[in-house]
Amino acid sequence: MLPSEIAVHPVDYLDRLGTIFARFTTQDSGNFSYGVETADTRYFVKTAGDPSDPTPYLDFDDRVALLRTAVELARSVQHPALPTLHAVIESAAGPMLVYEWRDGELLGPPATRERFRVLPADEILTVLDTLYELHARLDEAGWVEGDFYDGAMMYDFGTRRLTVMDLDTYVRGPYRNTMGRMFGSERFMAPEQLALGAPIDSRTTAYVMARAALVLLPDPPAPLREVLVEATTTRFPSYSAFYDRWLTASATTSAC
Ligand SMILES: Nc1ncnc2c1ncn2[C@@H]1O[C@H](COP(=O)(O)OP(=O)(O)O)[C@@H](O)[C@H]1O
Ligand SMILES: [Mg+2]
Repeated sequence: MLPSEIAVHPVDYLDRLGTIFARFTTQDSGNFSYGVETADTRYFVKTAGDPSDPTPYLDFDDRVALLRTAVELARSVQHPALPTLHAVIESAAGPMLVYEWRDGELLGPPATRERFRVLPADEILTVLDTLYELHARLDEAGWVEGDFYDGAMMYDFGTRRLTVMDLDTYVRGPYRNTMGRMFGSERFMAPEQLALGAPIDSRTTAYVMARAALVLLPDPPAPLREVLVEATTTRFPSYSAFYDRWLTASATTSAC
């Protein structure tokens, strides 16, 4: 059993729990995360990093707030693409989120993305179906996309399993763009994510998910391409409208 609270520093606790075999301590986010191996399992443990470090864009309290959002998201939606959140351990350095460790390669770096894009179309479509089904569950639970890009996806090329992580900047319910150019990769962002005051809602989620397919699938079959083009030009009124059309178009495609 993992405790709900510790009195020592996260790293000291993790050193006692098992062996730290991976460190993610140079992220732009300011978060520090660790891969930890115990006698019977591997964990991915995420923390808000150094409370006294002033360099990250978000200060410590804001980083902690995003981790609390990640906890709410993990507790509201279960899906095979999401690593299980086993525990949240409170410490003087904020919460430690103890997730299941997932093997896989981030699709963010260009070389890995290219390796992914040359896979058979069916394999890529299976991954997109998983991504879209996950977002249908998230959308039903009220979650609206925030800062999604290919670096939030890991793919295990051997087992063909997709993992989606780092959804900490998703927001429950529609919100407004208070930044102008919001965080994110412009290859994925919807126009409203660049416009101060614009509403961000499930239509935005639909746009960003369509962009994901356009980035990851080099040559979509015509019925799917039509749905993706519509999602990024005239737009769909909601994520579920996009998803319904995607499922219908997929059924046509696989019948060919
Ligand atoms: N469940 C997981 N299992 C294994 N590695 C993970 C897992 N979640 C994230 N990672 C790796 O850790 C890195 C940092 O995690 P991420 O959630 O993106 O944190 P940050 O908020 O610092 O960007 C990711 O880029 C990925 O390589
Ligand atoms: Mg990240």
